[in-house]
Amino acid sequence: MPSLAVIGIQWGDEGKGKIIDALTPSADVIVRYQGGANAGHTIVADGRTTVLHLVPSGVLHAGKRCLIGNGVVVDPQALLDEIDGLAAQGVTVTPASLAVSERAHVVMPYHKRLDQLRESLPGGQKIGTTGRGIGPCYADKIARLGVRICDLFDPEHLRRRVESALVEKNLLFRAHSAFDFDVDEVVREAAAYGDRLRPYVADTSRLVDDALDGGEKVVFEGAQGALLDIDFGTYPYVTSSNAGIGGIPVGAGISPARVGRVIGVAKGYATRVGEGPFPSEQRNALGDRLREVGREFGATTGRPRRCGWFDAVAARHAVRFCGVDAIALTKLDVLSGLDELKVAVAYRLGGSVIDRFPASIRDLAAVEPVFETLPGWREALGPAAALGYDGLPAAARDYIAFLEGAVGVPVEMVSVGAGREALLLRTASPWPD
Ligand code: GDP
Ligand code: IMO
Ligand code: MG
Repeated sequence: MPSLAVIGIQWGDEGKGKIIDALTPSADVIVRYQGGANAGHTIVADGRTTVLHLVPSGVLHAGKRCLIGNGVVVDPQALLDEIDGLAAQGVTVTPASLAVSERAHVVMPYHKRLDQLRESLPGGQKIGTTGRGIGPCYADKIARLGVRICDLFDPEHLRRRVESALVEKNLLFRAHSAFDFDVDEVVREAAAYGDRLRPYVADTSRLVDDALDGGEKVVFEGAQGALLDIDFGTYPYVTSSNAGIGGIPVGAGISPARVGRVIGVAKGYATRVGEGPFPSEQRNALGDRLREVGREFGATTGRPRRCGWFDAVAARHAVRFCGVDAIALTKLDVLSGLDELKVAVAYRLGGSVIDRFPASIRDLAAVEPVFETLPGWREALGPAAALGYDGLPAAARDYIAFLEGAVGVPVEMVSVGAGREALLLRTASPWPD
């Protein structure tokens, strides 16, 4: 099957945007299938940095088709702003290059407000969300109170959808701040967005199938990371979609048998934004150094990312439940100059050593990582990388070999800088035969 899934296998921000941009020249179609504008995928090309939130990371290459599948929650304002922003930098997005599923759910203004309210209510549960309305939008989808893209074109139906969605929410908003949403105003605004989005709207599920039937190559672009998956991540400190492999068939609208190879993207260390357990976190000078050298600040919210050592226990969990075939290892350059590197290979929990990733959030918060220590390297990797994989310092190659052993899958791509050129391939082609 000529398709590749590219998914994060940590807590997001692994460098998926960069890897997908690099794979796009060999692809025809790039499909986002879950998440929403909570994602921030960065591409550094020709000296310019582009951060994408909803538009797939293939958009900078001419002649490719980018699809936003039914499983994505679409904030129309964010999407239109992104299209305008791309135009301003000379990237023209047209209905030939971008299509949005008619079945995708719409992030409404009340979803964003509810997200922010839940995060701020005293005594409530603070997840440290991106505030983009993601959780409330997916909640409405499952509660059958959602507004879909196709609803935007039918004013009477749209009004009924919004009315139903606002009944309970307006009670809450009024109780909290004497402010509620006016149905007519919400409907007017949503319909206006619908008018602007209409040329891009399509049955993307069929488009993906048709592309595969025609022998075209498809990349499925994951957002967030497997450890933020609603089912297999560090619940409740997760995002509200299946950021692991399961999101693809549901959110792109294709058979799971149509997913070819799975590339798991991981940094050479680990980061996480927001609340939640992070066993290998380093809240010390090392963590600060990784943040500074790796410029670990959120691409969507600008928040400082928490930093720590590579966690092979967590990575094995992600690789197993996502069926990852190979790893794209990013940001290896950030580790240059450290005397030694550590990798969490197991956890200590209540007197025993475990090698599995616990489901219980209390266990995850209580585990102590068991670290293996490896020698570091002094050299900057950019110049060495120009020589290809074998040009990497021996200690860097040993570190990669150690990670392969600890996680159980090969590292096929190694990224040693943010730019397009800083990518080392260890395979003739990542595509399935
Ligand atoms: P994504 O959400 O998975 O696409 O990742 P983000 O864009 O949120 O975060 C990754 C950050 O690391 C971006 O600023 C990238 O430009 C940058 N980046 C990606 N690969 C590398 C690399 O190999 N080395 C360095 N130094 N930066 C990288
Ligand atoms: P990309 O695609 C990193 C995190 C938030 C928060 C939790 C829930 O760029 O890797 P949400 O707004 O989704 O309800 O927040 O998930 N989060 C991300 N962290 N990268 C992302 O996306 C993220 N998207 C959401 O910080 O902890
Ligand atoms: Mg990101």
